[in-house]
Amino acid sequence: MPEKITLSIIKADVGSLAGHHIVHPDQLAATTKVLAEAKQKGLIIDFYVTHVGDDIQLIMTHRKGVDNPDIHGLAWEAFQAAAKVSRELKLYAAGQDLLSETFSGNVRGLGPGVAEIEMEERPSEPVITFHADKTEPGAFNLPLFRIFADPFNTAGLVIDPKMHGGFIFEVYDVYEGRSVKMNAPEEMYDILALIGTPGRYIIRRVYRKSDGLQAAVVSVERLNLLAGRYVGKDDPVAIVRAQHGLPAVGEVLEAFAFPHLVAGWMRGSHFGPLMPVPQRSAKVTRFDGPPRIIALGWNINKGRLIGPADLFDDVAFDETRRLAQLIAEYMRRHGPFMPHRLGPEEMEYTTLPQVLEKLKNRFEKSEEVKYKVKHTEMLSGGGEG
Ligand code: F6R
Ligand code: MG
Ligand code: MG
Repeated sequence: MPEKITLSIIKADVGSLAGHHIVHPDQLAATTKVLAEAKQKGLIIDFYVTHVGDDIQLIMTHRKGVDNPDIHGLAWEAFQAAAKVSRELKLYAAGQDLLSETFSGNVRGLGPGVAEIEMEERPSEPVITFHADKTEPGAFNLPLFRIFADPFNTAGLVIDPKMHGGFIFEVYDVYEGRSVKMNAPEEMYDILALIGTPGRYIIRRVYRKSDGLQAAVVSVERLNLLAGRYVGKDDPVAIVRAQHGLPAVGEVLEAFAFPHLVAGWMRGSHFGPLMPVPQRSAKVTRFDGPPRIIALGWNINKGRLIGPADLFDDVAFDETRRLAQLIAEYMRRHGPFMPHRLGPEEMEYTTLPQVLEKLKNRFEKSEEVKYKVKHTEMLSGGGEG
């Protein structure tokens, strides 16, 4: 029986250089030191530290399973070390995502984002890790649906008998904290009825129907919902296993060739295109964006991380990036107007309600129009759009 390996990505924004732009190399060095010591002690098998924009990404392999207190504790320690550097260098928003003073066994709920898969390592185990900045977990809904349910994206759904049976999507409701498993292709329309609202319903895990193999996982932590106030955007991560009865690496990447609109960007309050970029462009500039994503390709070898391959570092994505720039320009021209700016439901967790609050008492009674539906709570942002 092949041994079980866990791949864990735990990420956090604990401060950055020149605004929310990019992490500082000294922060990466501090986290690397903590993880190198843990590797030496045998707590983790292997690790890789990277970043996208202002988020530090810890990619770790170990034998302890998901939600393990030692692994989460290690990540917490690494982020504390980076936050210390942030404070020493007076970097911006030092320690931002560490919502708690103390660690209590699991980083979920304390600010960092988590995506973990426990797997029986296949004879060859190709995996892609995705890391995004200036957006939210629901940004993965569209590409994951296309990868695992859309034959116009993934030829293997039609051609490969191992995939032909389809996939199971576990969809998580962030407001209710519960999830539902749904079958594709049978329940495709029902799946879309949920995941078309990416701020609430998030594809959390995907399984191959024929044998239950877990093929993907997404971090579903929503920072502002955890904190109850605006902290920053969640800047999600995802893991997708590929090949040999799963979508090929090229089919997985194909879903990112369309720079779809995602929520995030400036002040976590704007829709903009998700732009796939190489690691060297994983920094945000224009209007604190546009939202970006990197894809790292790996082979896992008895827990060792072989790689990474910087998968979006290719001219094949140049046109996607160009289209993303055009969309960015088009959206920016709307300035403070919806649908560039997010709707009232999402703006509730930004600083806008504080501004609107001041206007509340300035309204005076006007001639009433006899609507059948009363529209209340507009100013506090709780109304229907
Ligand atoms: C978005 C983000 C940035 C900040 C913006 C304002 O997730 O981190 O766009 O919201 O730079 O930041 P503050 O309020 O810290 O000046
Ligand atoms: Mg930041
Ligand atoms: Mg970020």
